[in-house]
Amino acid sequence: MEPKTFYITTPIYYPSGKAHIGHSYCTVGSDAIARYKRMQGYDVMFLTGTDEHGQKIELKAAEKGVTPKEYVDKIVAGFQDLWKLLDISNDRFIRTTDNDHVKAVQKIFRQLYDKGEIYKGAYKGWYCTPCEAFWTETQLKDHKCPDCEREVKWAEEEAYFFRLSKYSDRLLQLYEEHPEFIQPESRKNEMINFIKNGLEDLCVSRTSFTWGIPVDFDPKHVVYVWLDALTNYITAMGYGSDHDEDYRKYWPADVHFVGKEIVRFHTIIWPAMLMALDLPLPKQVYGHGWLLFGDGTKMSKSKGNVVDPVVLCDRYGVDAIRYFLLREIPFGADGNFTNEALIGRINSDLANDLGNLLSRTTAMAQKYFGGTIPAQRETAPIDQELIDMATGLREKCDRHVDGYQFSNALAEIWKLIARANKYIDETAPWVLGKDEAQKGRLAAVIYHLCEVLRIISILIAPFMPNTAPKIQAQIGAHGDAVCYENAGVWGMLPADAVITKGETLFPRIDVEKEIAELIAIIGDTSGKGEPAKTDSAKEETKAAQPAEGTVTMEQIGIEDFLKVELRVAKIQNCEPIKKAKKLLKLTLDDGEGERTVASGIAKWYAPEDLIGKSIVLVSNLKPATLCGVESQGMILAADCPDGEVKVIFVDGIPAGSKIH
Ligand code: MSP
Repeated sequence: MEPKTFYITTPIYYPSGKAHIGHSYCTVGSDAIARYKRMQGYDVMFLTGTDEHGQKIELKAAEKGVTPKEYVDKIVAGFQDLWKLLDISNDRFIRTTDNDHVKAVQKIFRQLYDKGEIYKGAYKGWYCTPCEAFWTETQLKDHKCPDCEREVKWAEEEAYFFRLSKYSDRLLQLYEEHPEFIQPESRKNEMINFIKNGLEDLCVSRTSFTWGIPVDFDPKHVVYVWLDALTNYITAMGYGSDHDEDYRKYWPADVHFVGKEIVRFHTIIWPAMLMALDLPLPKQVYGHGWLLFGDGTKMSKSKGNVVDPVVLCDRYGVDAIRYFLLREIPFGADGNFTNEALIGRINSDLANDLGNLLSRTTAMAQKYFGGTIPAQRETAPIDQELIDMATGLREKCDRHVDGYQFSNALAEIWKLIARANKYIDETAPWVLGKDEAQKGRLAAVIYHLCEVLRIISILIAPFMPNTAPKIQAQIGAHGDAVCYENAGVWGMLPADAVITKGETLFPRIDVEKEIAELIAIIGDTSGKGEPAKTDSAKEETKAAQPAEGTVTMEQIGIEDFLKVELRVAKIQNCEPIKKAKKLLKLTLDDGEGERTVASGIAKWYAPEDLIGKSIVLVSNLKPATLCGVESQGMILAADCPDGEVKVIFVDGIPAGSKIH
């Protein structure tokens, strides 16, 4: 018989800045489920990816002076590296710039248009640029975006619309007939109210930016981001192409994991689109909470207060970070990330509880039996409670994992760890070891501890994939002994298992020293102080244009330097660029003629500060179009230590002079 399939997805992340611990939170949770289901024998499809189109990315790329594709390529590579580092076992990674996705989205758009589900109209509404969302007057909060609370602007343009409004009743019926569709339960009422307040048709194309999938029958429009983004869950499976076997095999998804802020898009727009396409609906959308700083503020790229998961993994190991994320916060709720809580968990749960159980057990097996526990074992009534708890653990974990409550599953595992540590105290092996007549009893005690560790190692594997094999290696368990089926069976560790005392799983951390060092590196996460900016945050907040390539560790030869042509140019004119707040359009005299350069210095200079000044121009840079302006070069500026950007002025040197 074919194994049952299980299809789980994360949101596709915006590569508008480096991946941070908030993104890792959802991905690690999804990974734990994917691994758990695989362990249970499911044929799992685990999808993650990146949502690469939209105005925000177009603007960011323009600020950096690169094309949107160049911009996202670099950040997407960072996401992929981070998932590797965090041992994310995704089966597929979709990028919305993938050719297959682009074609499938065009096809879906046309299908919906042909069916009359999409029509052309004019959009008038309040638009939030960072969220790329239109809002009606009534949806605004204090006349600001209800999601991010930033300024909105009135926008009006020709656009295609999806007939979302006609699906209100069907959506309400869906929630009623499938109460499990929106989870946790608490998020459902919000959606019902949203629908009851009246759904409006949804704008699904834009003409005011170009970084998107063109509507193939009306190419001045690009597909507006939610239709492009949400359909990834089916296009990644080949829907809309001639290789749609995986779509037929895995769709509908068993669960979409999403942050609570995008539950609305996934439980209203997405099912309505699928209804319009006559396709099956996902079985469940699970809206998890946010990872917050100690003061309750959300970590986000735009706030610049992101914690760098790479730094944390380097210091404590991947599994410690995975454990913290999965254990500390019940999945549906918001939770705090603080350095103190992280180190607390590492010291108490990992170093003390789990680490000690393993090191005490293996040390005793070595000390008393040279690593192989005699088969003659004498049990006692006190053993039964431990055995029952251990053999009953799998069923409890299954139940919690089915409800996506990793923290509860881990709490159950840690209850067994605590019980086993107590068992050591109760049975006092060091006393038994002194009496030759108690050898059989001592063998039973140590064997039981190894059995507990064997069962624990199986069940923590989806959460802590590196730690499980380390435990198994130390207690000499492999093959059948460590398969999921035998996690509920007692006595699977063979009598000839060789137990060795290996490396310490999680070294204890000196709290005070560590907190001080962490504050210096990633900032004060308690919310009491100012979070230090990580590299990514710094990169986001500093001047855009000269950032790339100004600081490089790599040495280059003179031949590389000579490839760059530097020339003095005089600024003849300067004006703001309407579509890009951070850019200025400069008209330069480079000694040979006129050229235009877009530069991300609007934050530091007004046009009148620049007109008439001479600057250094990189004059042989490939032209790039930034927000509709063809930029034919780049001007040099310095990133000052205080975060200011200062253009390098060379007044008095004639335009056209070469610099070397
Ligand atoms: N691109 C859209 C999603 C499209 S899905 C078809 C998007 N991207 S995002 O990068 O802004 O965020 C996506 C997800 O990242 C959130 O829904 C959430 O799962 C995760 N998180 C980002 N910051 C987070 C926290 N601070 N805490 C927890 N999760 C966070 O929205």
